[in-house]
Amino acid sequence: MRASRPLIAGVLALASVAVLPTAAFAAPAPPANPNASEHSAVIGENSLRALADEAGIKVGVAVNTDLLAGNGKYRNIVNTQFSSVTAENVMKWETLEPAQRVYNWAPAEALIANAEANGQVVRGHTLVWHNQLPTWLTSGNFSPAELRSLLENHVKTVAAHFAGRIQQWDVVNEIFNDDGTFRQTIFSQAYAALGLSAEQYIGDVFRWAHEADPSALLFYNDYNLEFTGPKSNAAYAFVQKLLAAGVPIQGVGFQGHLDTQYGFPDLQNNLQRFADLGLQVALTEVDIRTFVTQKNNGTYTDTPADPAEGAQQVDWWAGTLEACLAVEACTSYTVWGVSDANSWIPGFFTGQGAGLLFDMHNNPKPQCDALREVLRNAA
Ligand code: G3I
Repeated sequence: MRASRPLIAGVLALASVAVLPTAAFAAPAPPANPNASEHSAVIGENSLRALADEAGIKVGVAVNTDLLAGNGKYRNIVNTQFSSVTAENVMKWETLEPAQRVYNWAPAEALIANAEANGQVVRGHTLVWHNQLPTWLTSGNFSPAELRSLLENHVKTVAAHFAGRIQQWDVVNEIFNDDGTFRQTIFSQAYAALGLSAEQYIGDVFRWAHEADPSALLFYNDYNLEFTGPKSNAAYAFVQKLLAAGVPIQGVGFQGHLDTQYGFPDLQNNLQRFADLGLQVALTEVDIRTFVTQKNNGTYTDTPADPAEGAQQVDWWAGTLEACLAVEACTSYTVWGVSDANSWIPGFFTGQGAGLLFDMHNNPKPQCDALREVLRNAA
């Protein structure tokens, strides 16, 4: 048990579940507190975030800032169900620095302001990644030394700009390939050309981020770390080298993009072995995809093609959260998007979808109830 919760709240929560399973997701009344921000929303005691509070963890969501601004139902779910938010795209390099040394802070600022008004913490995503880099950087004619300096400038400027407002930063994202080799990017190649190692490259980035924002917890974030294998083993060895060299790394993020066709990973073991190094761990981008049915016009639905795999999705959602709750150093569990209507999955995996907690119409799926049940059991 991570935190005790008042008996009466527990009784009320259980009673409301028994009577009306979706009551926790109904649109709340406007806030009664006259001092509350116009952006703040009423948090139901049976919401994911209230139950997560009692279980002693943050439950987060990746946010599309256009939908946050323009879709009331979406905004209501973000603010009432989640206690942590991650920018799905607007803190990536191409958005934040679209032209060299020209910064576009507004979309990320809007997300942080909304989070602060709603008592949410923010996960910063991401300072350094090989995707979603601006064209001026990827097609510029920069020497290795110039690339290192551009990297230093971006990391320090962004981390300093948001300093004090970010709980956890994904400082580097996806630095290993599935075979356990270190991923070749414009930055790793620049460091190699300068005669510097992968540890020196990643060490620089963490040191710069720490210097600019000493209060943020600094994470390395990646996918497929959930499974024991060449990638998670390489990451495990690499992180130990960073720690031995005194690099200010405080956490490892397990993205958690699962697919029913590949089996459930030995997630708890992997979370625990990184935690045993003295690090925080987190589930940072959970979604669980499967093949879905197609309409006559060829568009995909959010209905699993195989009902058995649909049922497996629900079990796996519970399993990912249970794995996090079983590891003391795992206190942050984030899902990668609100609803199946705006998930990245159908655009990247042909024929697949239904990966999130809410359906195409932003209504809660059984996956939601499964998470709430796990949280109730943990509190
Ligand atoms: O911004 C442009 C817009 O100007 C253009 O009109 C539109 C037309 O396609 O594209 C927009 O860019 C899209 C961008 O998201 C912003 O919405 C890209 O096409 C689209 O490919 C991009 O996808 C994002 C993806 O990262 C890029 O690799 C997803 O939304 C985002 O969910 C996804 O997130 C990643 C994490 O950051 C890291 N881990 C994996 C995860 C899933 O891929």
